[in-house]
Amino acid sequence: MDLHNIRETYNFDSLDTDKLKDSPMGQFQHWFEEYKVLGVKDYNAMAISTVIGDIPECRIVLLKEIRDNGYVFYSNYGSAKGKALESNPNISALFFWREQERQVRISGKVVKIDEKESKSYFETRPYLSKIGAAASNQSRPIGSRKELEEKFNSFTSKYPEGTDVPMPTEWGGYLIIPERYEFWQGREGRLHDRLVFVLEDGHWTIQRIQP
Ligand SMILES: Cc1cc2nc3c(=O)[nH]c(=O)nc-3n(C[C@H](O)[C@H](O)[C@H](O)COP(=O)(O)O)c2cc1C
Repeated sequence: MDLHNIRETYNFDSLDTDKLKDSPMGQFQHWFEEYKVLGVKDYNAMAISTVIGDIPECRIVLLKEIRDNGYVFYSNYGSAKGKALESNPNISALFFWREQERQVRISGKVVKIDEKESKSYFETRPYLSKIGAAASNQSRPIGSRKELEEKFNSFTSKYPEGTDVPMPTEWGGYLIIPERYEFWQGREGRLHDRLVFVLEDGHWTIQRIQP
């Protein structure tokens, strides 16, 4: 398949230091809110990359909370990403907001959030999402779809709708504590705007980099 002729022009907006919010967190929130109002499905999706050994791996997760000190997503601590983060807490998160020709890259380190906080979020999840999380040892092999469904059904029998589904011990939230942001705005002629914030001695420095 030849895809050489696919070309887009980017001219939705521009980004310069005089337009930036006071902090990268503020700038992220501003762009996030501008994207949110478009009503795109899964507008809170982000690709997160982890490294295990020297192998990088990325996957989509949902951003569930923006805190003053970082970004929360939930997963299974025993999953492939969980194991990678256990041995190497460095993470890179990527948001692609196509409609606005924007990309934001955030890198930093993760910490697990408090179990109590995970529990209070888990309790707000729909019944079937709770059962799904309880029934799945995420990323580990299983013999067949049938086996998976039987496992799921055994959990629905054990915890019928309306009863408390306990949060699996392996399940919980991660907080990404940012150390670097890159804001990318597509521009004409591929002269895109790229502004990078780096945390140095507790202060954010800003640098424009070439497209
Ligand atoms: C739109 C979308 C949202 C997802 N949200 C999550 C999520 O919030 N948490 C999660 O663990 N996996 C989520 N997944 C599944 C992950 O992409 C991935 O398959 C799973 O976490 C296992 O990844 P791992 O084997 O690298 O650990 C989502 C996938 C998609 C496509």
